[in-house]
Amino acid sequence: MSLRLLERLTRKWKKRWSLADLGTGSGILVLAAKRFGAGRVTGIDIDPKAISIAKANARLNKIDNADFQLGDVRRWKPAAGWDVITANLYGGLLIDVASKLKRSNWLILSGVPRTQEEELLRVLRRNNMEIAGVKRRGKWIALTAHKR
Ligand SMILES: C[S@@+](CC[C@H](N)C(=O)[O-])C[C@H]1O[C@@H](n2cnc3c(N)ncnc32)[C@H](O)[C@@H]1O
Repeated sequence: MSLRLLERLTRKWKKRWSLADLGTGSGILVLAAKRFGAGRVTGIDIDPKAISIAKANARLNKIDNADFQLGDVRRWKPAAGWDVITANLYGGLLIDVASKLKRSNWLILSGVPRTQEEELLRVLRRNNMEIAGVKRRGKWIALTAHKR
């Protein structure tokens, strides 16, 4: 769902845009972002194995300017603003880090069970983010939001 939302959001963007992917796993969203036209990209994951796999996937896809960093999003201090933050993380963690998410113009969030939808939307709105759309599939939701 996040991948589709990212493609749809950025389809018509002309200039190079930046993306931070929180909980990057295999790095798929970072690598797809480069294919979709992103410039500066960073993926962060708490699991060292995920970071080494993401780096290997970047090499396999001949993408040499993707940055992958080992770290806990709870301690992440975004040094710069971002055009897009993606985060496929469980809802409780997204709620915990919501104040950092507003360092981005756009958010694409997934991995959230429907039971946490209401609370997450409330927290995002409290952090000056406007909800652009919510997708629901089975018991999961994904959403796009932007800065007010
Ligand atoms: C559901 S996977 C998402 C992987 C990938 N972004 C995707 O969409 O396919 C969640 C990832 O978040 C990472 N993660 C979980 N808690 C984290 C934390 N506190 N800080 C950073 N990464 C975390 C996990 O190690 C895992 O790789």
